[in-house]
Amino acid sequence: MGIFDSPRATILLRPEVLDSDYIPEILPHREGLMREIASTISYSLDTGRSSNVFVVGPPGAGKTVAVKYILRELSSYSPLTFQVYINCWVYRTRHSIISHLARELKIPLPRRGVAPDEAYDRIFARINTHRGAVIVLDEVDRLSRGSDEVLYDFSRLHEFLDVPVVAVSIANTEDFVYRLDLRIQSALFSRKLTFEPYTVPQLKDILKERAKLALADGTYDDNVIGLCAAVGWKRGGDARVAISCLYEAAVLAEREGAERITVDHVRRAEGRAGSSLREGLDPRYVPIVEILEEKGELTVKELYNEYTKRAGKVTLRAFRNYISELEALGVIAVKRLNVKGHVRAVRLRF
Ligand SMILES: Nc1ncnc2c1ncn2[C@@H]1O[C@H](COP(=O)(O)OP(=O)(O)OP(=O)(O)O)[C@@H](O)[C@H]1O
Ligand SMILES: [Mg+2]
Repeated sequence: MGIFDSPRATILLRPEVLDSDYIPEILPHREGLMREIASTISYSLDTGRSSNVFVVGPPGAGKTVAVKYILRELSSYSPLTFQVYINCWVYRTRHSIISHLARELKIPLPRRGVAPDEAYDRIFARINTHRGAVIVLDEVDRLSRGSDEVLYDFSRLHEFLDVPVVAVSIANTEDFVYRLDLRIQSALFSRKLTFEPYTVPQLKDILKERAKLALADGTYDDNVIGLCAAVGWKRGGDARVAISCLYEAAVLAEREGAERITVDHVRRAEGRAGSSLREGLDPRYVPIVEILEEKGELTVKELYNEYTKRAGKVTLRAFRNYISELEALGVIAVKRLNVKGHVRAVRLRF
């Protein structure tokens, strides 16, 4: 064996199956919710009436994967329907969303840019050549502040299109909806579907399906699956954590040359299971996670001082916003250390 060849995997045969963006063929415990979303879409396409769905649920509840699954099915069920998936954390502004839509519709926009109205005219004309449109706005609560106008644009889409449009918005909570214009609320967020956190038995079913495809037969047992499910449940019924725990345990077992994954591998993997959550984190937040990984719990003030040393200057006010965002994302836990809450301690939740 050459020095660059790695030994052949004996446990983790198909690691990609445990990746967070893998879309499985079977999504246990989400069939009913997926059918509801799908029937909203097909009803709109059949009747020509536009509609909306608002999907709400905590991290790892299967929102993104369920909607992506539906889009995949839709492309064979109705190939003439235009579909677009927009992650509003990546495309955070009106401008970037318009450019993304244009790109997806293969509309050439000049480099210097065009006024939004003109871009929209071309976008509408192109969408009208389709049977309808399904527009997914994932992480819609992460749009940058002041970009609500794009939601206003979307709330009026049906007025400008001759074909039906279904807007599917996804968020962790519904708090942000209440500060939006009532018109936006009713056009985009009036039909809510809640994805509840998974229970332990549900997480076990999800893990079993994934393990069957990813791992070699006989290299794991029910205790391993059960413990990974428990880890995901403890962290808020989160399938992402459960699956990544199984992945990390398999990697450990493989690396140690073990014949099978044991409960001990899972226990040791547990601490690393959250790391996939940090992938795709806004780069400004990454140093915060790194510092907390090194130092454990710190007060906001200590963390701020360390952060500015490593990542450069930011105002304390901006930094406090980072902390709130990370808290809302479930990456860190913030504890108030004195009665008035001026002194707060921060630690990683994973
Ligand atoms: N019912 C399910 N069956 C199989 N895999 C699932 C199921 N639910 C979630 N998963 C898997 O768990 C991981 C997290 O799911 P997903 O990304 O859909 O969560 P989410 O609800 O969008 O979370 P977030 O709010 O953090 O974006 C993904 O790898 C996904 O494939
Ligand atoms: Mg998601």
